[in-house]
Amino acid sequence: MIWAATELPAIAGGNPIRESMLPYGRHSLDDRDIDAVVRTLNSGTLTGGDAVAAFEAALATEYGVRHAVACSSGTAALQMALRAVGVGLRTSVVVPPLSFVATANAALLVGATPRFADIGGDRCLDPEAAARVVEPSTAAVITVDYSGLPSDVSALRACLPQGLPIIVDAAHSLGAHTTGRPPVVHGDITILSFHPVKHITTGEGGATLTDDDDLAHRLRRLRNHGMTSEAGERAGLTWRYDVLELGENHRLSDMQAALGTAQLTRLQAWVARRRELASRYDELLETVPGIVPPPRAPGRESAWHLYAIEVTEDFGMARDPVIDGLRAENIAATLHYPAIHLLSMYRRLGHQVGEAPVAEATCSRLVTLPLFPAMTDADQDGVVEAITRLRRWGGG
Ligand SMILES: Cc1ncc(COP(=O)(O)O)c(C=O)c1O
Repeated sequence: MIWAATELPAIAGGNPIRESMLPYGRHSLDDRDIDAVVRTLNSGTLTGGDAVAAFEAALATEYGVRHAVACSSGTAALQMALRAVGVGLRTSVVVPPLSFVATANAALLVGATPRFADIGGDRCLDPEAAARVVEPSTAAVITVDYSGLPSDVSALRACLPQGLPIIVDAAHSLGAHTTGRPPVVHGDITILSFHPVKHITTGEGGATLTDDDDLAHRLRRLRNHGMTSEAGERAGLTWRYDVLELGENHRLSDMQAALGTAQLTRLQAWVARRRELASRYDELLETVPGIVPPPRAPGRESAWHLYAIEVTEDFGMARDPVIDGLRAENIAATLHYPAIHLLSMYRRLGHQVGEAPVAEATCSRLVTLPLFPAMTDADQDGVVEAITRLRRWGGG
């Protein structure tokens, strides 16, 4: 077949569909965010002040939970959550292999051993697989709301020994609850991340959410070196403090918190746009052979942090060249994620192929397409056109 230059994919020498790179995710900022940060800079308090308390109150209201404890990153939130529920040396933590490496690293960082359990068809931790790897030393289970789809925590709870703490890694799913509290029971602690590709950003930042007063108290202490009081409290009459346990500096600054509060006011609008784009991708890609859309789950609506398709044999090209091909078109498609247990560090710890067959097969097919609130329909049409062009070229 003779190809016109306009039809040939850029990877085969054609002209790229876009002139500039379309990222897979991008934060949105406007003057409201800048004003909020500048006001805080002028407030006289840069950390541990009212802006942090206001952000925590706004997050707790958003989620309908009693306590939000803001911290310096999602990774810090995971470590604080694990410590707060009693994870430490000589314990193990059940984690899914399909997540950002921080989920499993957090277990290692608090001295515990991660135990990988496979994912289900919703790409979240499979409750039965999780129950199979629970051992006497298991002190917590982390489920990940992969790509924004809330995990079915009630199904997970039903499969696990009674009382085993569940931590929900909701780094992808902030806003999944916007039609009301999610129709799943929350875990003991939910963690969030405010990295710029997430739904709202504080630059770097995270939070832990819980309804349990004692856990909230311990989370605050672990955020602040294990101390019995925070600096703001000691500025008043309470100058004495004690240290009850080993903690870290996991605090969020007031400037970051002010940015987070300003961002949170637009969360629902942003998630609505993400949902719109996700449905549009579903429709536009429906007729392309070899493209499997992300799973949907009855009663659980995704917040669409990621739109991750699976590329199957029918596409006519393997997954890696598809990502390379889209990048050649100036579309920053990517992979979320390589299976954690097969990363070199985890292989050195003894993990191997075959431990989590569903996750391994899924990870070999995943491609994340661009999705963020400011993305236009025309941007999205370009992505679909690029995929179609690759399919025509590769799959005939
Ligand atoms: C599922 C998941 N958990 C945890 C984290 C860690 O969050 P942070 O980057 O804020 O430390 C991320 C960040 O990308 C994530 O995607």
